[in-house]
Amino acid sequence: MTDMTALAQPFTSSMSIPANHGSLQTERGGKTSERGGKVLAYVTDPATETALRQTASQLLVGDFEVRRGDVRTAVRDLARQRSPDLLIVDLSGIELPIGAMESLSQVCEPSVTVVAIGDRNDVALYRNLRGLGVAEYLFKPLPSDQIEALLGRAAGTAARGEDTGRQGKLVAVTGARGGVGTTTVAVNLASYLADVGRRRIALVDLDLHTGTVALHLNLKPGRGLREAIEAPERVDQLFLERAMQPASDRLDVLATEEPIIPPVAPNPRAVLDLLDSLRSQYHYVLVDVPHDLSETARAVLDQAALRIVVADGNLAGARDALRLRGAFESSGSSRQTLVVHNRRGAPGALTPAEFNRALGGPADYAIDCRPKPLIEAATLGEPAIKRCAPFKSEISKLAEAVSGQSAGGGTSLLGRLFRGGKSAK
Ligand SMILES: Nc1ncnc2c1ncn2[C@@H]1O[C@H](COP(=O)(O)OP(=O)(O)OP(=O)(O)O)[C@@H](O)[C@H]1O
Ligand SMILES: [Mg+2]
Repeated sequence: MTDMTALAQPFTSSMSIPANHGSLQTERGGKTSERGGKVLAYVTDPATETALRQTASQLLVGDFEVRRGDVRTAVRDLARQRSPDLLIVDLSGIELPIGAMESLSQVCEPSVTVVAIGDRNDVALYRNLRGLGVAEYLFKPLPSDQIEALLGRAAGTAARGEDTGRQGKLVAVTGARGGVGTTTVAVNLASYLADVGRRRIALVDLDLHTGTVALHLNLKPGRGLREAIEAPERVDQLFLERAMQPASDRLDVLATEEPIIPPVAPNPRAVLDLLDSLRSQYHYVLVDVPHDLSETARAVLDQAALRIVVADGNLAGARDALRLRGAFESSGSSRQTLVVHNRRGAPGALTPAEFNRALGGPADYAIDCRPKPLIEAATLGEPAIKRCAPFKSEISKLAEAVSGQSAGGGTSLLGRLFRGGKSAK
């Protein structure tokens, strides 16, 4: 362990809050009203609790709550409730703080600013935490000016509606052709990431007229998606909370069923803005993109950090998957495209070798043809991964590719989550 006081740089107990708090003083000097943005703190000792409470009340931080406990208490609570805007967690006495932060990352929404406090004056720990995307690490006893800076900035940021810059990952699932199983893949991947991977997932059905995401999950299509696209200025956190339909604890769906006539042609900008808003609240935003190559579909495919092209074992489908992948690659984008060979082994379909030949190389993932469990699941309106273990195992491999790791846990995801995939769409 490195003692920071031994370093040439004169550290105070804060390791990252700038020394100049002039703007904070000005804010406090003026007339302040209550400022929004939920702040939730978990602290292990009464002195820190009192100090935080006093400063929050002086700074008129509107939505402020302190709970007694450490990072493990935070993990337990946040697995069951929405995350705040600013989360302060206490690492005091925690033997493996990085592991504890990993558990926290599993339940914390991407837009949350996480600040750690602790009892260790340890620059290595500080660096590791910062490397994981933790905004600050402060060690006890917390001087009052550091608390003021922390809460003042948090309140100010939330009041101005500033973005923390952390965003979930946008994943587009599209079909090389119609009817190849795109929605089946999207729904089951979303369900797997939510229920096994324990991520917060938004699943958006961009087929506004004939989309079947809601049907696959036994939900009634709502009005929210249409409203969001028609009046993007109304889309805020509250709007999304009302519009999203919960399919499970961590899986929310946005889908509509517009009349066939007249056709709705959503504005691509409005759709991209909506997906951006969702990315601040969900770890992954999965979009079922119709294969109509409309302007909106292309815009979403262009923005996605990862595109999944589903094809079945039909020659035209394999060729179209090849063309789609080629088109994405020639657009110069470094974003990844994966091809899924669905319904592998279906009677009359291409053999895997023939499919791969038509595709110009092996498919990235394959899903066998399993009509019985998939039709049963579709009839019941529940993801097929819940009733078919081999299918679940195939979807789990795709989920690993989406999350870059085994979706059940692992350290690599932590960096991405707290770092928030700043660069990832
Ligand atoms: N691996 C599979 N094995 C057997 N049946 C499958 C498989 N994947 C999908 N299906 C079935 O194929 C049908 C079409 O699937 P799905 O609705 O997912 O296709 P889609 O590509 O989204 O269609 P659309 O283009 O109409 O949106 C469904 O009945 C589904 O249960
Ligand atoms: Mg579909």
